[in-house]
Parts: sequence; structure tokens; C-alpha cells
Amino acid sequence: MVAAVDINVTKIEHSKLNEMSLENIPFGKYFSDHMLEADYENGEWKNVEIKPYQPLVLEPSLAALHYGQSIFEGIKAYKDANGNAFIFRPYDNFKRFNISATRMCMPNVPEEIFIEGMKQLIELDKNWIPNKKDHSLYIRPLMFATDSMLGVKPSESYKFLIMLSPTGPYYAEPMKIYVEEKYTRAAPGGVGFAKNAGNYAGSMIAAQEAKKLGYDQVLWTDAFEHKWLQEVGMMNVMFIINGVAVTPSLDEGTILHGVTRDSIITLLKEQGIKVEERRINIDELVDAYKKELLTEAFGTGTAATVAPIKEFKYKHEVMQLDTTKATVASALKKRFDDIRYSHAEDIFVWMVKA
Ligand code: COI
Repeated sequence: MVAAVDINVTKIEHSKLNEMSLENIPFGKYFSDHMLEADYENGEWKNVEIKPYQPLVLEPSLAALHYGQSIFEGIKAYKDANGNAFIFRPYDNFKRFNISATRMCMPNVPEEIFIEGMKQLIELDKNWIPNKKDHSLYIRPLMFATDSMLGVKPSESYKFLIMLSPTGPYYAEPMKIYVEEKYTRAAPGGVGFAKNAGNYAGSMIAAQEAKKLGYDQVLWTDAFEHKWLQEVGMMNVMFIINGVAVTPSLDEGTILHGVTRDSIITLLKEQGIKVEERRINIDELVDAYKKELLTEAFGTGTAATVAPIKEFKYKHEVMQLDTTKATVASALKKRFDDIRYSHAEDIFVWMVKA
């Protein structure tokens, strides 16, 4: 039984929804009417409130801005045919959030704030859940250090926020991916498994350089040989090789433990497709491509959902995949959507009512 928490609620007077449409909205640009805010001070969480979405007033010496103690999550909410709001696997993101918190020397957020607060916020702003195909309400929990000090040590105070952003698909078209050999995202013992802000800051230069070459994202490789595949920027990656789904394993702590990754593995198994979570080398991928055994590749992530890949570039190799023939990815996406949009029975108990 989760302890109850008193959440002070202040509602908006006039919804911003009256002035906008929820169709064809870009990712992360608009925010709903309300947000949740809580503070951690003197070893306890306090001031939990839901209030109109608004700017924060922060000190220039805010610890998070200097030393990067900042973590976040990405979750999605959907509506069923009766207009009830459901959140997709929020407990899994809750666990991962606190794993990131522990790694970054931050306090854990209790379930009654993270989950119960999120449910209340979504219930209040459920009109912001778009009805359109491939659209949803993206939920962004965030925690950052709020001590006002320049000494390098874990902060003693933190702010936790949840904001909501209606969204369409992140990648509307199949992706072109550049296999990264110069920069490194993560090494064993590092923070690759955590969803901390710095991981994203550190990866931007690689994505930017790939973009200049005409690629949408990079495929990260290991720090030592630049051979062992990790993840694609912002998502986990899966390959269909000779009918088997192969995806990098979580063992080395260098990739994010994707909730979508886990869901897709479950759905692959449901469809009778063998799944191998293991180390995978770029040379194996090139070899499989040359033998025409590599038939599909796709990214999985909350924002990206199931995002087909149409090309990999590695050194002088350009590996092109015909995504119109990507039957595994399209069947998975359909099954995944049917569950999330409540068109099919939620047999894995993934949907949590707000
Ligand atoms: C998500 O899929 O929720 C992510 O965190 C990716 C995001 C950085 C856009």
C-alpha cells in the first residue's frame, strides 16, 4: 500500500487548448495546462503541488546547471474509446528513474509522488491526450539539484517536476544511421544506463556531425574498439538476422534499459520470433548484410516507438534495407499500438489507469 500524499492543486482559469489543435504536433514543443512540482529539502520531500504550467525562478549558482545532477524519464499516456486515460508501464519508468537517481547521488522519489502525482496530473489534463493515430501525451518527469553552491559535491536539495507534452511521431520516416567510430557515448563503469541529462549533451556533437553527412542519428559503438554495437541516439536498436531478433544485451551497463525495448522483446516472443540479447559486432552486421541475412533493423524508444532503419553507413559500406518489406517491424508496431490504444486486450498488464 502506497502512503498517501497531500497534493495541493491550483487549476488554470483558461485552458490553452482552446487556442490550439492536437493534430500533427511536433515532439516536445507544446505543454499542457498543468505541471507537478515537489521539493526535496532536509532529507524529505515536501511542497507537492499541481499548478498551472509556468516558468521556474532559479539561482545562477544552481548546482544542476554547473555539475549536471539532472535526470529525466519519458513515458506516454493514451485514451481508450470511452475517453479514459491510461499510462503505459509507468512503474517501469519509475524504477528506472530511481536507478538513475542513485547513480547520480540523488535521492529517490517516492511512488506516491511519482506515480500518484502523475496519475492526478494526467486525469486533470486528459483532454490534452490527442486522439489521432501515432499521437499520444508524452510525460516528462525531471529531477535536478537545487543547492546554490559551487563546491563539487552532491546537492542537498532537489526539485522534481512532471510536465506533459502532446505529441505526434518523433521520426515520421525511416531513419538513416551513421555508425559512430570517433565519439563514445558510454563505457563500463560509466553512466550509460542512466537517463541523466549529460548523456544527451555528450552525444549531440556526434548526431550533429552525422546530420551534416545526411544521417538522422548515430549507432554508438563501444569505447575501446568501436566495434561492439550499443544503441542508436535516443533509442535501443534491434536487428532481424536470418529470422532471429538480435539486440545488444544490457550486461555492460552501457545502454539504456528501454521499457519499449523490453515490451518489443515480449511481443517478438509472442510472435514466435527468437530473441538474442547479446554482444553484437559491426563486422557481424556487415557480413549478415552481404549474405542478405540482415532483413530489418529498427530503433525502439518511448519517443520513437518502433522506428524503422533504412540505411547504415559504416566506413565505406552503405547498407540499405528495404523498409517496405519490414514485415516484422510493422507487425510489432501494429500489435504494440493495438495494446497502447486499447484496441486489443492488455494481456501483459502494461496499461495503468490514470
Ligand atoms: C524517450 O524516448 O523518452 C527519450 O527519452 C528520448 C528523448 C530524449 C527524446
